[in-house]
Amino acid sequence: MSWESKYSVGISKFDDDHQIILNLIDTYLTQSDSGLDLNTVRFIIDQLGDYSQTHFKAEETYMAEIKYPRLDDHRRLHHEMLD
Ligand SMILES: [Fe+2]
Repeated sequence: MSWESKYSVGISKFDDDHQIILNLIDTYLTQSDSGLDLNTVRFIIDQLGDYSQTHFKAEETYMAEIKYPRLDDHRRLHHEMLD
């Protein structure tokens, strides 16, 4: 799983966040094939959780500012992902 320009949302800060999140997921997926120790798994999951929460809040704030019509649906999706 790697970043491709077709994933761009046109806002560089959010594109940067998405690349970081994808890199964390990719690190987990590629490393887990060779066997990850529990501390590394915890580190990746913690980083992913922390970074995603910060990113989702920033995204939702921006969407509210621009009155994004599907904000409630997107917010629900964020909550499901964090769960
Ligand atoms: Fe996002």
